[in-house]
Amino acid sequence: MSEITNLIAEGRAKRLYATENEDEAVVYYRDETVAFHGLKRGRIIGKGEINNLICEYMFTLLTEKGVPNHFIRRVDNRCSLVKRVEIIPFTVTVRNIAAGSLARRIGLPDGTRLRNPVIEFNLKNEELEDSLLNVTHITALNLATTAEVRQIEMMSRRVNEILSECMSGIGIELIDFKVEFGRYKGEILLADEVSPDTCRFWDANTHEPLDLDRFRHDLGDVEEAYREVLHRLTGNVLRSNEEEA
Ligand SMILES: Nc1ncnc2c1ncn2[C@@H]1O[C@H](COP(=O)(O)OP(=O)(O)O)[C@@H](O)[C@H]1O
Ligand SMILES: [Mg+2]
Repeated sequence: MSEITNLIAEGRAKRLYATENEDEAVVYYRDETVAFHGLKRGRIIGKGEINNLICEYMFTLLTEKGVPNHFIRRVDNRCSLVKRVEIIPFTVTVRNIAAGSLARRIGLPDGTRLRNPVIEFNLKNEELEDSLLNVTHITALNLATTAEVRQIEMMSRRVNEILSECMSGIGIELIDFKVEFGRYKGEILLADEVSPDTCRFWDANTHEPLDLDRFRHDLGDVEEAYREVLHRLTGNVLRSNEEEA
């Protein structure tokens, strides 16, 4: 692998490093944990390792199913090599069941099944609490073209189908998830991460959350829930409990 050169971005959940190959980057997954637009901060020991493995599994599955994405390969416990994209500065949330901010905004009880998937766009801007955008905001602000938005929406729907099916096979309901996309050599790639930090996963039998909501709402057993998702996906029982460097 080409050597890491400098830090490009330090986000809440990951660090991104440049490599000697300018088309690639190394993602380092952190234990750092943030919720409510940065208002609640903490650490889930071992999360970085778990999310690195979960993302490897998810992106490999998505590649097999034909969804173009940034993942190249996992490098070590906490790092993966990815294609370095130009991130499109809004997130895409796909919701199958109302929970979290949608449940509050619409006044639906958490857990209400939606008649069709809801797709939301949010500005990537923590200070503005990641404002909700529609397509006219996106084009007015020149964040992406109409054609790009159409493609992003299509890809997000496909990701929803693939992930819902995969999770349902391991007794987990996919409530919603948030993804990011980027431009890379004239193509749009799914980027960022797919993990319990960015998805709502509920145990299909108990409806217990197995995701960041355990941290958001102090439900306890946060790390165990992340491990449980990894274990059901891959059979991997991660024994090391190494804190991040
Ligand atoms: N393949 C990629 N190429 C370039 N940037 C990426 C890629 N994947 C993710 N990123 C960016 O890496 C940064 C760090 O990620 P993260 O810690 O999750 O940030 P955030 O605090 O915005 O959630 C984010 O700005 C994200 O958009
Ligand atoms: Mg993030």
